[in-house]
Amino acid sequence: MNESKPAPTHPLLEWSPGSWRDRSALQQPAWPDLQALAAAQEELALLPPLVTSWEIEALKENLWLAGRGDAFVLQAGDCAESFADCRPGRITDMLKVLLQVSLILVHGGGRPVVRIGRIAGQYAKPRSQDLETRGEETHPAYRGDNVNCPNFDAASRTPDPTLLLRGHERAALTLNFVRALAGGGFADLHHAETWDLAFVGDSELAGEYHKIVHEVQEGLRFMEIVAGRSIREFAQVDIWTSHECLVLPLEQALTRRVPRRDGWYNLSTHLPWLGIRTAAQEGAHAEYARGICNPIGIKVGTSTNPAALRRLVEFLNPGSERGRVVLIHRFGAEGIEQGLPPVIAAMEGLQAAPVWLCDPMHGNTRSVSIPGRGAGESVKTRHFDDVVAESEAAMAIHARIGVPLGGVHLELTGEDVTECTGGARQLSPKDLARAYRTHVDPRLNAEQALELAMRLSRRMRAARGV
Ligand code: PEP
Ligand code: CO
Repeated sequence: MNESKPAPTHPLLEWSPGSWRDRSALQQPAWPDLQALAAAQEELALLPPLVTSWEIEALKENLWLAGRGDAFVLQAGDCAESFADCRPGRITDMLKVLLQVSLILVHGGGRPVVRIGRIAGQYAKPRSQDLETRGEETHPAYRGDNVNCPNFDAASRTPDPTLLLRGHERAALTLNFVRALAGGGFADLHHAETWDLAFVGDSELAGEYHKIVHEVQEGLRFMEIVAGRSIREFAQVDIWTSHECLVLPLEQALTRRVPRRDGWYNLSTHLPWLGIRTAAQEGAHAEYARGICNPIGIKVGTSTNPAALRRLVEFLNPGSERGRVVLIHRFGAEGIEQGLPPVIAAMEGLQAAPVWLCDPMHGNTRSVSIPGRGAGESVKTRHFDDVVAESEAAMAIHARIGVPLGGVHLELTGEDVTECTGGARQLSPKDLARAYRTHVDPRLNAEQALELAMRLSRRMRAARGV
């Protein structure tokens, strides 16, 4: 191990994986037993990591290409993964929808798609309220399966640090299966028909989707004839992982040095991101993030001050490394026209341009009551049209300003859920009662995700003049 070179630090400030502890850490669970937390952290620090520094460095290269407009990022998955969903069917369904959406985007954009799952560790959630009250009872809010359980009783909602260990194990099981599928032929473009999801088969979109698959496969066959050999190696895809960098003792325990490289890597995921509630430069999360070599995502929205964001980007990337900073904007369909241009302008002149992703989900969340259910019982939803409108507005604004949109950040699932309204089947608030399964934010179902991808893909083709 090369211990002689110092870890990358801000020129003026010392850094260590635990230096965040001197700052105010928002959105941390109120752990009742700090000794148990320390014990879990010690155990985690001894366990094998989930990803490697080689992969992380390769992702930064890919992100840099996306920032220049030479690749397109699809970052997508559950709002909150749950331990119960660590099941082969759920994982293959998620992989299928990621592969299908990315195939449509490759076809539309005519450039490689960088697939990043919100997967294998997206187990912790920020909450706007620390406590939740139902009737006479009040308990801590559900903060993700890494922290507590969604059931509404005192025992389930008490933060339990041993869940951090369970989360690491579930993440490892998930990633092991994803890697086996991606490397073992499942993700081979020659066999894209194996990605079909049962319930999408009878959708009106299926015909258009299969036409795209056919065109891509024909293109592959043509290339193989010309090259005189199989291009199987090139037809396989990479899947990267990401999660919100939230519960800092966990992130710290997985922050390691590696042989023959300088610096520290968070080896629990390729791309950690800072949520909108924890992205202040003076906070503990930014302090933690500045010392690791991973690319860092930052959520950007109506509460973001453009000048402060510029300072944060410089703070996190003092060496102007390419592919290091990913700005994920989520202004909402109504806010993007006003909110995004000043943020793009504030980044002008940075030596390493950030990578811009549009998250058309988190600015478009609405509460609705489900018809027929008790008064006051409401759920969070998003309307498909708002998601499309914000994504299209993002494409238009980036094109107008001349700064490429590097990709999209979506909450979706391969399951036939009814959590977002609208889309080809025109789901209404009444339909939400049928299959509303998310523990936190509403996700696009696979059919809505494919429809969104097709809308974006059509725009991309039009922009390319094909
Ligand atoms: C999320 O991505 O699930 C999330 C909570 O986003 P944001 O921090 O943008 O609200
Ligand atoms: Co969410």
